[in-house]
Amino acid sequence: MDKKLRLRINEISKSYKLKKKDYHKVIDSLSLDIFDNEFLVILGPGHCGKTVLLNIIAGLETPDVGFVELDGVKIDGPNPDMGMVFQKTGVFPWLTVMENVELGPRFKGEAKSERRERAQKYINLVGLQGFESHRPPQLSGGMKQRVGIARAYTNNPEILIMDEPFGALDAQTRYSMEEEISNIWSIEKRTVIFVTNNIEEALALGDRIVLLTECPARVKEIYEVNMPRPRDLMSEEFLLLRQKISENTDLSIDSEV
Ligand SMILES: Nc1ncnc2c1ncn2[C@@H]1O[C@H](COP(=O)(O)OP(=O)(O)OP(=O)(O)O)[C@@H](O)[C@H]1O
Ligand SMILES: [Mg+2]
Repeated sequence: MDKKLRLRINEISKSYKLKKKDYHKVIDSLSLDIFDNEFLVILGPGHCGKTVLLNIIAGLETPDVGFVELDGVKIDGPNPDMGMVFQKTGVFPWLTVMENVELGPRFKGEAKSERRERAQKYINLVGLQGFESHRPPQLSGGMKQRVGIARAYTNNPEILIMDEPFGALDAQTRYSMEEEISNIWSIEKRTVIFVTNNIEEALALGDRIVLLTECPARVKEIYEVNMPRPRDLMSEEFLLLRQKISENTDLSIDSEV
């Protein structure tokens, strides 16, 4: 299969100044190619630099060294082709579900009927139909994350970046969200970059899994996952790959899966 390169991350490094002459290196000469319509999972331990890496990809931060290219053009600021679902829910509590989801196109001045139609489509896809007029304080944690995901999709970005979107959810909700996001991806193919520190989640979702080192983040290993979707979490292939990855990292395995 011919793979079309979308994003090229080329030898990026990033440090933060601590005090005086002390620097904390967070990303160390990291290179990675990301292809069109792939579901790429970035798997790494806590505080290893995953969010910083995503922020650099999204143009929200600049690397000290190296560069990121989207379709051959260097990224030097936020890019409308990329949409982000943040680690903490970024929903506005005073807006309804519909108003949160349609916010991007509304800011762009898109006609109400058009943006509502698209927002409704994604509200339905994430299973929030019937809750359009609710406000976030009336919703569970999982439902709030769904609002964030529907909002990111409604912006219609070519590349969707998700930063541990299910990290704060209980195991059961997390599992059903993983199924849902995998379903949406099967229906609406696009390039997804999904960050997690959970091996099972990485295996449930990714076409490729990029394992990062401890801080400073470098690419430790890349795993191709060729299992059909929805993934069978008890299949031999799944369990073998899970074993292989866990032997290569200190990340723990959820005992309940
Ligand atoms: N703006 C900043 N200034 C100084 N240090 C920072 C800044 N942003 C991140 N860091 C540091 O960089 C390191 C990596 O942070 P980052 O948020 O990327 O980790 P992470 O892998 O996303 O962690 P988690 O799994 O907890 O989300 C941390 O030690 C953090 O304190
Ligand atoms: Mg993070």
